Formats: sequence, structure tokens, C-alpha cells
Amino acid sequence: MLQILLFVFYIWGIHLRFAEAEIKLVDAEKCLVWGAGIKPDVSVLPARYFFIMAIDKNGQRYLESAPLNFQVKIKGNSPHGRCRSHVDVIDRGDGTNIVRYTTADWCDQVEIEIRYNGTQVAQSPYYVRNKVYSEKCYCPQDLQLFMLHNNCPNAAADKQIMWDLHSFKRVNFSAIRENLMKRYNQPESVSLCHYVVKQQQIWRQCYGKYTGFKMFMDSTLLALSRVALLPDMEFYLNLGDWPLSKKGGQQRTSGPYPIFSWCGSEDSYDITLPTYDLTESSVENMGRVALDMLSVQRNEHPWELKEDKAFWRGRDSRRERLDLIDLSRKYPELINASITNFFFFRDEEQKYGPTVPYVSFMEFFKYKYQLNIDGTVASYRFPYLLAGDSLVFKQDSPYYEHFYSKLQPYKHYVPFKRNLSDLIEKVQWAREHEKKVREIIHNAREFVEANLLPQHIYCYHLALFKEWSNRLVAPVVVMPGMEKVQTSYTCFCKEPQIKDEL
Ligand SMILES: *[C@@H]1O[C@H](CO)[C@@H](O)[C@H](O)[C@H]1NC(C)=O
Ligand SMILES: *[C@@H]1O[C@H](CO)[C@@H](O)[C@H](O)[C@H]1NC(C)=O
Ligand SMILES: *[C@@H]1O[C@H](CO)[C@@H](O)[C@H](O)[C@H]1NC(C)=O
Ligand SMILES: *[C@@H]1O[C@H](CO)[C@@H](O)[C@H](O)[C@H]1NC(C)=O
Repeated sequence: MLQILLFVFYIWGIHLRFAEAEIKLVDAEKCLVWGAGIKPDVSVLPARYFFIMAIDKNGQRYLESAPLNFQVKIKGNSPHGRCRSHVDVIDRGDGTNIVRYTTADWCDQVEIEIRYNGTQVAQSPYYVRNKVYSEKCYCPQDLQLFMLHNNCPNAAADKQIMWDLHSFKRVNFSAIRENLMKRYNQPESVSLCHYVVKQQQIWRQCYGKYTGFKMFMDSTLLALSRVALLPDMEFYLNLGDWPLSKKGGQQRTSGPYPIFSWCGSEDSYDITLPTYDLTESSVENMGRVALDMLSVQRNEHPWELKEDKAFWRGRDSRRERLDLIDLSRKYPELINASITNFFFFRDEEQKYGPTVPYVSFMEFFKYKYQLNIDGTVASYRFPYLLAGDSLVFKQDSPYYEHFYSKLQPYKHYVPFKRNLSDLIEKVQWAREHEKKVREIIHNAREFVEANLLPQHIYCYHLALFKEWSNRLVAPVVVMPGMEKVQTSYTCFCKEPQIKDEL
């Protein structure tokens, strides 16, 4: 009986201590609000976004979610009466929130109102001076101005762009086009498109059997052309997985051909663009794509509740993915891994199957550790894994996306050997070094915030295209046989002459 009573007091004590912790109240005025999304007249993106950091009455930031949600409203007038908007507040679970929103057509006299428990937050309401246009309106700004308004670094400040372009100081397509086509017009094995941007119009001609992925570049160029005046330029885009412009061999004599690709590699000269996946989710933010670099930061699985294991799901597109299944069977207490789909190694499905039901990407973050293993080339989930709040283990790889060169091992992720030989040891290390692990996760998120959000994806394309256009010495012309990519927009910035109202 006494024991039970003591136990009850003990629980009560714990409860009281928690209750004390809970009365940490948010000081609405002291909260911090920052980001281009509070200047939507200047910074135009598919979804505008900004950040809120909760601060308590003692001036301390929260390390977990604030007790209540922040309420955000976009007020204003539009051609249809009240400004139509859609707002999404993403709680990152660390005392910070991402607020993103879209508006339809245009809105005037916009006010962004942020409240916490009824009280205005920081300098809310934020008054927006000029009209706010939807990104779906055709409103190209001067390129330099767009880059300035969106804090885009110039190409010269980007390691990867400079590295990719260092073999292409002066490109004369009139001189190399014929040989380039001889080399890469191989419909059975190569799919590529020639793009020309001229006076804000987009033209292309594709070669190869599988050219469906051209839709991604079409929509990227169209989206960029709605917000910025693009330089006249042309480029060849590889639609396949593998980089094309191989080092060594023939290229030693002819010089490398400039090919744009979504994946770069140590043994090629391909010029890397942000992947179609990352770009699509930036261009379609709050549109038809559900998983993007903002939504993936929504905290659904607090650290304390995560399983202390490494998690992986994916296709059988590389031998090491099968090797991982072997490891997970040997060390089920450390790794939960399964193949979702057999295609490349169908004859080994018996051994490495059965396939498992689909797990939504957000569910991955129920686990403390995430594994990034190459597919046919780099695994394009890597940026999304970095943005989540789990530790990412990355397989060593000759393949890379446009941002890898800015990452540092053990600062932003934990590397493991290509043949997985040290993976188990690394996972065990992580289980014993929680403090360091959480520091790496924190750094990864900071990296994402500085490099991989929709704004940065726009910036990277524009900086690269601007620099690229400077290096083209032959006149840019629309070639016979090219198809015009149809523009898509729902409104203009310059309002058409208003007819006499009746
Ligand atoms: C919300 O505001 C009310 C009164 O203004 C206050 O009593 C209450 O403690 C606040 N709640 C939180 C969670 O801040
Ligand atoms: C580009 O190449 C073409 C064909 O070889 C040549 O006629 C032209 O002069 C070159 N242009 C420049 C600027 O080098
Ligand atoms: C592996 O993960 C899946 C999805 O979270 C879960 O349903 C399953 O029970 C896990 N397997 C083991 C052995 O823990
Ligand atoms: C794995 O690769 C490393 C080199 O990175 C090599 O030293 C080691 O022998 C390999 N292990 C196996 C089992 O192949």
C-alpha cells in the first residue's frame, strides 16, 4: 500500500514538473519573422514562404513546437473582391514554422497578418506596398533585378557552376553542332533535347526514343520565363539517367561536348541542373506535387518517439540495394529495409523479396536514421532526406546532384562505403552519439534552408543560364524543325486596356 502511495506521489511530482515546463508562454511581440515571403510584391514564387520563430517570455527560443499554432491571414483586394489565398503553416517541431501561401491572379493592398493566441506577432500586420501577382501571371522582371530581389548568388559564387563550366569558356555551337549530333543522336540509347530560348520564347527539338521527360524542362523554362526575362541561349539537355559527356577516350581529341544533365558524375563533363524532381516540386509548390522541400519539414514524428533504426525503401535499381536487404536480415535491430519493386533483378525476387506495401515518404521519419543508396545514378531523394529530421547516411558515390559539392561529410550527413562494408559500424556509432547526431541533423536543415528551397532552385537555374548565355559565341537562332513550347499563364502584370465600363 505504501509503495503504491509513494508511486502515486512520484508520478504526481513528475506531472507537476511537466506542468511547470508547459507554462512557458510565447511572447508574440518578441517572435522573429523573416523571409522573402513577407515581400510578395518583390519576390515572386509559386508559393511565397517565410519563417516564424517562437520566443518565450524569457526571450528564449523553443526547442519544440510552441503550445499553440500561429494563425496567418493574407488580406487584400482582388479583381474578384476579397483576395483569394491559400495558407499552409508548417510546424517544424523545433520552435520554428514555415508559412507558405498562394494568391490567385493579383491582390492589392495586401496585409499579412500573423497572430498567436489572438495577439499580433512581431511587426504584424505586414503591409505590402505594391500589387501582389500570382506566379501564374506573366510578369517577367529584368533578370538582374529578379536575382537581386531573391538574393540569388551570381554564378561566380557557385562552386558547382564554376566547376561545370570551366571546360566551356567559349562555346561555338555553329562549329560543334554537327559533331555533337553525330555523337549523341543515337535514338536507341540516348534521349536528348535541344532547347533554344530566344526573346522570351522557348523552342525545342528532341531526339531519341523516350523523350517524355522533356515536360519537366518545358515547365521549368515556362515558369522561369513568367518571372524573369531570360537571356537568349541554347543548350542540349540529356533526358536519360546517366551523364553523357564522358571523360577520356574520344573527347581527348575533340574536346568535351557541353551537355546539361540532372545528374553529374566524376567521370563526365555534364553540366548539372537541379534534378527534375526537385525543380518540379519547386515550380509546383502547393500545386500538384505533395512532397516538396517545404512540406517535408513538417514534424510528424518527434525525436523521442522515433525508432532507433535505419530505414530504407526503394526499387532494386542497384546491386548494393540488394546487399542492404541481406544486412537488414542479419541486423534487424539496426536496419529496416525492403525492396518495393523488382525490375532490374527480377530473377532474384525470390531471394530478396517479397516486395512490401507502399510507405509514404513522411513515414520514413518515424526512424532516426535514413539510408541514401544510389539507384541507377544518384538517388534523388537525398535533398528530401536532408530536410527531414533524421540523420542521413549516404553511400559514397561518383554521382552527384547540383548541390553535393557544398556538403561536408560528418557535418551534414554520415558517409558510408560504396560496398556497405562499414554501414553497420556507422549505425552503431550513431546510436551511441546522440548529441553529435542531432547536431548533424540540425546542420543539414540549416543547409537546406540556405540552399535547397524553391527560391534557391530558381536562383540556380537563372545564375547558370545567365553565365551560360555569356559563353555562347555563335548567334542563337531557332532552327528549322524546332517546336515552340506553348506558353502558359493565367493573367498579365500589365493589365490589358480596360474597356469602357458599362
Ligand atoms: C492565451 O491568451 C489567454 C488570455 O489572453 C491567456 O489566459 C492564455 O494563457 C493564453 N494561452 C497560451 C497558451 O498562451
Ligand atoms: C563559330 O564557328 C563557325 C563555323 O565554324 C565560324 O564560321 C564562326 O566564325 C565561329 N564564330 C566565332 C565567334 O568564333
Ligand atoms: C519495418 O518497417 C515497417 C514500416 O514502418 C513496419 O511495418 C515493420 O513492422 C518494420 N519491420 C520490423 C522488423 O521492425
Ligand atoms: C569494400 O570497399 C573497400 C574500399 O572502399 C575495400 O577496402 C573493402 O575490401 C571492400 N569490402 C568488401 C567486403 O568487398
